[in-house]
Amino acid sequence: MEKLIVNGGRALHGAVRISGGKNSSLAIITAACLAADVSVLENVPQCRDVLTLKAILEALGARIELDRGRMAIDARALASHAAPYDLCRQMRASFYAAGLLLGRGGRAEIPLPGGCVIGSRPVDFHLRGFAALGAMVEIEHGYMKASARQLVGTTFFVPRSSVGTTINLMLAASMASGTTVLDNAAREPEVVDTAVFLNLMGARIKGAGTNSITIEGADALHGASYAIIPDRLEAGTYLLAAAATGGNVLVEQMIPEHISALLAKLEEAGAIVERGTDGVRVRAGGVHRGVHVDTAPYPGFATDLHPPFVALMSRADGQSRIRETVFESRFGYVDELRRMGADVHVEGDSAIVNGVPYLTGAPVEAVDIRAGATIIIAALSARGTSEIAGVDNVDRGYEQLDGKLSALGADVRRVEVRGESVPQPVA
Ligand code: UD1
Repeated sequence: MEKLIVNGGRALHGAVRISGGKNSSLAIITAACLAADVSVLENVPQCRDVLTLKAILEALGARIELDRGRMAIDARALASHAAPYDLCRQMRASFYAAGLLLGRGGRAEIPLPGGCVIGSRPVDFHLRGFAALGAMVEIEHGYMKASARQLVGTTFFVPRSSVGTTINLMLAASMASGTTVLDNAAREPEVVDTAVFLNLMGARIKGAGTNSITIEGADALHGASYAIIPDRLEAGTYLLAAAATGGNVLVEQMIPEHISALLAKLEEAGAIVERGTDGVRVRAGGVHRGVHVDTAPYPGFATDLHPPFVALMSRADGQSRIRETVFESRFGYVDELRRMGADVHVEGDSAIVNGVPYLTGAPVEAVDIRAGATIIIAALSARGTSEIAGVDNVDRGYEQLDGKLSALGADVRRVEVRGESVPQPVA
């Protein structure tokens, strides 16, 4: 087991480059396998979820190589219709294999997915969408089994503008006969990125980025080359870490418009935000004010940035209320922050935060990807040393988080821990 040891109290300074989007990559790598052909992707982050997806697609028969952000995907030999349980249970996006296999071969047998424990996260919307496209869908022994001789275009209202449902149905509908309209579609940048890539593969998708997407099905798609957009959630994490540590950081190679709701809240809290065409600089600008946030689908305040924002608010002046409207139990980080001295508790769908003058280092655990980012930000700004377990959750979503933080002046080390023994440095 690995842990991160963080000695807090150092302001972050310098510049950090943002990796390609993890969530975009998961959708686009899967999309590439719709074609019995070769695609090349650039700006693919080397994080654990991407490697898990790579293993799932390889188990289905694809050949994939990843080298320094460049991924070559050869899906000519993809033949299996059954995805492996041990890999799929590790992340929710494994369910994109359902849209892929239904679209490509008309048959899919996929374990119900796992992933971060942030709510019940069912896949009922996905299943309803596949059924609307004409597939026979059943759940048996923990698996979704779906088949269709030919998917047929339809009009489908996406409940709760689900991102995953929108992407999964775009994958399947790209290979359906006729036209599909997705109403109340998610508008997230990752949906747009996936549609752009599918169109490069020969799909005919219009309206991505609006809440009505039209997909004209194609008989076959071909391989394409594409560079994944920057990870807006990683960018938000570094901006929050800079503000929380009283630092001054330029976050490079990001798209500021993708997190304008966060930037507005940072300014409301008193941070100084300078937007450039290809980056954003944040300067802490003294003690922050407590502010209220409601998470919302894009372009609202991203649910993934709710927990790290609470880390910033935990030392702000006054009270903050962060209302979670997307996932019902994204509060796994609260007990961990409390161990570090934060005054935060959950009331209904909201985290109520009363700012304290300082946090103290403590042994804590990263219980999911964004909870991990949250306690790392708290640890960076705390007095004393924090020992952070559950690092594999952080590695699921962040490429080189400890390395990038060290380059910004953080005192963070990754250590190997055997049982209850004393931490040993990792070579
Ligand atoms: C994706 C992102 C995740 C982000 C979320 C919302 C990936 C890999 N993950 O997750 O980081 O936080 O979008 O922006 O891209 N729901 C159902 N039934 C379904 C599908 C969803 O009830 O079949 C509910 C969910 O429990 C949640 C809401 O709908 O309450 C939105 O979920 P959704 O947008 O689908 O999130 P994901 O695609 O899983």
